[in-house]
Amino acid sequence: MDMNTPVSPAGFAAVDRLMARGAAFFGSRYALLGGAMSWVSERNLVAALSNAGAFGVIACGAMEPHHLDAEIAGTKALTDKPFGVNLITMHPRLEQLVDTCLAHKVTHIVFAGGIPPGSALKRAKEGGARVVCFAPALALAKKLVRSGADALVIEGSEAGGHIGPVSLNVLAQEILPVMGPEVPVFVAGGIGRGEAILSYLEMGAAGAQLGTRFVCASECIAHPNFKRAFIRGAARDALPTVQLDERFPVIPVRALQNEGTKRFMEHQAKVLARFQAGEFTKEEAQLDIEHFWAGALRRAVIDGDVENGSLMAGQSVGMVSREQPAAEIVAELIAQAAAALAARTA
Ligand SMILES: Cc1cc2nc3c(=O)[nH]c(=O)nc-3n(C[C@H](O)[C@H](O)[C@H](O)COP(=O)(O)O)c2cc1C
Repeated sequence: MDMNTPVSPAGFAAVDRLMARGAAFFGSRYALLGGAMSWVSERNLVAALSNAGAFGVIACGAMEPHHLDAEIAGTKALTDKPFGVNLITMHPRLEQLVDTCLAHKVTHIVFAGGIPPGSALKRAKEGGARVVCFAPALALAKKLVRSGADALVIEGSEAGGHIGPVSLNVLAQEILPVMGPEVPVFVAGGIGRGEAILSYLEMGAAGAQLGTRFVCASECIAHPNFKRAFIRGAARDALPTVQLDERFPVIPVRALQNEGTKRFMEHQAKVLARFQAGEFTKEEAQLDIEHFWAGALRRAVIDGDVENGSLMAGQSVGMVSREQPAAEIVAELIAQAAAALAARTA
């Protein structure tokens, strides 16, 4: 469906009903989260998404507390709607970052990149923020809720960026029926259209989180080269990093293939040869492999080096076809869901 196809008001009202719980949780018009993307989800995209009725989330990434402070203040200057902050749990100053959010009365903190330390989670909640955590499996989902998580995101391996091994299709079946009645659960990974959002809502999801689909929002500051790569990219181009040797683990990251991903394979092979020749200890070799991608996302997103930088993207990249205002993307997703619902009773 496109924006010109009329959709009955009943279709929109039905989507609102399905999204009511998730929207109430975030205090947003729609139960749609802008998945935090390092370098991409800064004040402009976050404010544009919140202004469009979704819930924008700042990606703190490796920012220091004073940077985050400025980013939150900058976002507040662009929107009076609620937005959240995504914190990476291995950040060495995690608790200070939580305090920075609390000082700004940020309503929701999303902990990503692992199970958050109990102290950070407690601090966030006691300071008045709602806490959202990523649940990679049912047992961990239960544990996170016992530890105080107010909502969960289940992110399938279709997603862009750092990924787990299980698809959203399977995570949704395993986790939604059990956890859905307890806390709002938001689905992420590979979502590019409203029909898919609708089907997960009907399975018991409270809403959906999208990343890739929002990269080409006109308000997004990503370099034009980065956006062009997304517009050109197909689902089959967004692949997880390949690990060459089981002794040297590589964190799986889904990204569009480019010179960088080719060179990463060669780099692993070279490091492996040096390790086998006794030139590198195991630790040195592991560090050398890990360092390969340092700064690579920034190089692609900000500098526009789409050959050597990291083009993190989900399989949903095939559904990104042009640059559009954030409000248009959000309206399109909602209209697609509403049209699919309305078509059943037509
Ligand atoms: C370029 C890029 C950077 C990302 N950075 C982060 C991040 O810093 N923290 C995080 O929790 N998730 C990160 N993600 C994941 C998104 O928040 C979101 O869950 C994911 O994009 C959803 O899948 P989709 O891309 O298919 O919509 C990133 C994704 C992309 C594409």
